Amino acid sequence: MANLEIGGIDCRNLAAVSGTPLLVYDEEKIETQFAAATENFKSQEFDTEVVYAAKAFSCTAIFEKAQQAGAGLDVVSGGELYCARQAGVDMKKVYFHGNNKSTEELEMALKLGCGTIVLDNDMECERLITLSEREKISIDVLLRVNPGIEAHTHEYIQTSGSDSKFGISIKKTEQIQSLAQKVLDSSYVNFKGFHSHIGSQITETEGFEKALEIMISFISDMKQQGVPAEVLSIGGGFGIRYTEEDQPIPLGEMAARLARICEKQLAEKNLQLKKLIMEPGRSIVGEAGYSLYKVGFSKDTDTKHFLFVDGGMSDNIRPALYQAKYSCDIATRMGEAKDKTYCVAGKNCESGDILIQEAQLPSSAAEGDLLVIYAAGAYGYSMASNYNRAGRPEVVFVKKGKARRVLKRETYQDQLRLETDEQLIF
Ligand code: LLP
Repeated sequence: MANLEIGGIDCRNLAAVSGTPLLVYDEEKIETQFAAATENFKSQEFDTEVVYAAKAFSCTAIFEKAQQAGAGLDVVSGGELYCARQAGVDMKKVYFHGNNKSTEELEMALKLGCGTIVLDNDMECERLITLSEREKISIDVLLRVNPGIEAHTHEYIQTSGSDSKFGISIKKTEQIQSLAQKVLDSSYVNFKGFHSHIGSQITETEGFEKALEIMISFISDMKQQGVPAEVLSIGGGFGIRYTEEDQPIPLGEMAARLARICEKQLAEKNLQLKKLIMEPGRSIVGEAGYSLYKVGFSKDTDTKHFLFVDGGMSDNIRPALYQAKYSCDIATRMGEAKDKTYCVAGKNCESGDILIQEAQLPSSAAEGDLLVIYAAGAYGYSMASNYNRAGRPEVVFVKKGKARRVLKRETYQDQLRLETDEQLIF
């Protein structure tokens, strides 16, 4: 009976020191993914930049790793901006996204020296111009446009694209032109180019190819209308392998292909670009993350064998929210025959709190064993909640037989720290 090792450490030891549920990241896998992106996303024709999408997993430690890898950072809130600043990230490489940034967040971005704001709509554009003039602080902007493409795991579809809450539809050329003109006429806001993001967990290049074709043709049209764009961000959404069914193009290959597609499209349009940006999130941290749970009780119903674990939708809401599929093992029984189909359920008070509907595991699985869910590093911790007053799990980074705690387990006391009983004066 063998135990799973992560980063050279027996997971029994990790659980003994840190407890469960525990999120373990193999640091070398994160480094490999950053390197795959930065080394392959290259061109002789234009500069390139890999920008890590913080929403996939954010904390000081991962921001430091992004910085070490030479990647920029895509943030979407004051909280992520603040964390970036505290992590000592080069704020010039921070891109601030979001459809409803508050005035306070925009002011914060200006004052912290955030490099680029990705403008989402007209009101935001006007607000930023006003604030930058008041503060006398310069900032670059990209404008998020919606190219009318939606890509999903195995397909892409062209949509009218005018109903998204993000960005402005590419068809609204006059609106886009007038917004860009306002920026061009302003004193402190510098118009740099356009941004688009077509979806998530995309495993093919087809959708990106179409998006690049549309975006570059659009940039060419805009140039003729007096709107000069020198930067294009193609967004994120590069798929990972959750289960055997997922066959994503490896990130490095995807990055190289995107650069080639962009070069081809530019040549066809006889256009030049200064910089192409990609924003991977999931593909950097997803497969590097392992969720370790302790197996508790089990029970059989007429049709199911339930195996209960000591976490659930409070630390990974993706199965309940998106019917997301994961694969797992009994980490303390590696190599044993997987001869029984279990339903792996969490401990949260909701029938939908099922982590894996059908998992083939050894029938010897017993209370006290550890269960590992693979590819749990993206959008698990970042979407975790305190439902049922569950504490957020501890997070450790492991590398070459060494482990370091990067996020402490949230205690009962931590959860009470916001409780108060104050009279409000009006
Ligand atoms: N850039 C923009 C503008 C985005 O909106 C996103 C993701 C990314 C980059 C990074 O996408 P990624 O490479 O991580 O797929 N909670 C969902 C995913 C939401 C993604 C939202 N935007 C999930 O758990 O699957």
